[in-house]
Amino acid sequence: MSLARCFNVDDFRKLAKKRLPSPIFNYIDGGADDEVTLKRNTSAFDDCNLVPNVLRDVSSVDMSTTVLGQKINMPLFLAPTAMHRLYHHDGEKATSRAAEKFGTFFGMSTIATTSIEEVGNLTSGPKLFQLYIHKDRGLTDNLVERCQRANFKALCLTVDTIVAGNRERDHRTGFTTPPKLTLASLISFALHPEWTINYLMHERFKLPNLPHTEKGGQSIETSVINYINSQFDPTMNWKDAEYVAKKWKGAFALKGITSVADAKKAVDIGATAIMISNHGGRQLDASMSPFDVLADIVDAVGDKIDVILDGGVRRGTHVLKALALGAKACSFGKAYLYALSAGGQAGVEAVLKIMHDEIKRGMTLMGCRNIKELTKDSLIFRKR
Ligand code: FNR
Ligand code: LAC
Repeated sequence: MSLARCFNVDDFRKLAKKRLPSPIFNYIDGGADDEVTLKRNTSAFDDCNLVPNVLRDVSSVDMSTTVLGQKINMPLFLAPTAMHRLYHHDGEKATSRAAEKFGTFFGMSTIATTSIEEVGNLTSGPKLFQLYIHKDRGLTDNLVERCQRANFKALCLTVDTIVAGNRERDHRTGFTTPPKLTLASLISFALHPEWTINYLMHERFKLPNLPHTEKGGQSIETSVINYINSQFDPTMNWKDAEYVAKKWKGAFALKGITSVADAKKAVDIGATAIMISNHGGRQLDASMSPFDVLADIVDAVGDKIDVILDGGVRRGTHVLKALALGAKACSFGKAYLYALSAGGQAGVEAVLKIMHDEIKRGMTLMGCRNIKELTKDSLIFRKR
């Protein structure tokens, strides 16, 4: 199987599974506990059907949207995800350049393997930085200031990761960062020589936005779970979120909202947007899927704040359904990470092209010339 034979997200997943050593593939692919929420995030979209309006001259379709104060060319962007150089040696260079080509946001994680400054210089596309509040509060200020200097357009604060979710696949495979050759993982690395050679031949693994992880020139060897549990600040509260919003001054989102009550509080602290998200099912299993809670949140705050749906998106029609319920845009994680693993920047561009074309084709078949024409009337929920 090759990149040219990938016609949908699942094809990229299959190719990623072939190319990556199993600890790394399962880190991307897995969720918390029984992975109920992970599965529900996508299956929730199947609870409704799309209702086209026919005979409407759809010779030109405009799929742009404005979110976080930025016009983007398609209503789907790259959610921030950690450590891109684990999946492909070009890492965040590949993903940020692909996002720029499609005129959409590149979400960059605090736990990126490329620096804020390097990505800032690399692309002129819109960039969103994702912040984790560490116990070392000086780090928060430092990251915010670095993003301001590097011309990031927007900042999001992730609020659903106070401790790490119970990702049992990572325990089973012995996933560490940087990858460690243990007896358990040795076979998997040996079975994926191309990945292993590429990994060893390129610049060594580091987390340049987190200078404290560097000791004696080596990144601290740890699991992501240990890192989150020891470094992130569980005292984080609404006052801290407000502090970050004020310090940042620009477009600001809270990432990880799944209730109407918290969405209202996000409005109160002056956020520009919320990303309805459960971290792709990696944190609290049995939490609400973004699509299940979207309509209620839009009803409550949709006229005051941008609502972004994050999680479960694998098809253009999923995006259409979210927009119909009032989301301004969607973001996705796993799908583009499979594509990055499968083929670097070319892979990410390929998956963005497929999603772009699926959204456009879907809008055309729906009789929608722009995303405003996707409304609640564009959907009917199935009777149970
Ligand atoms: C993530 N996500 C994430 N979120 C975040 O705020 N900071 C981070 O560093 C990461 N890291 C991360 C790594 C990996 C491997 C994955 C799969 C996800 C969550 C991400 O931003 C997003 O919320 C989900 O990926 C959305 O769900 P889907 O699209 O993967 O279903
Ligand atoms: C994850 C963290 C790093 O989901 O956000 O793995």
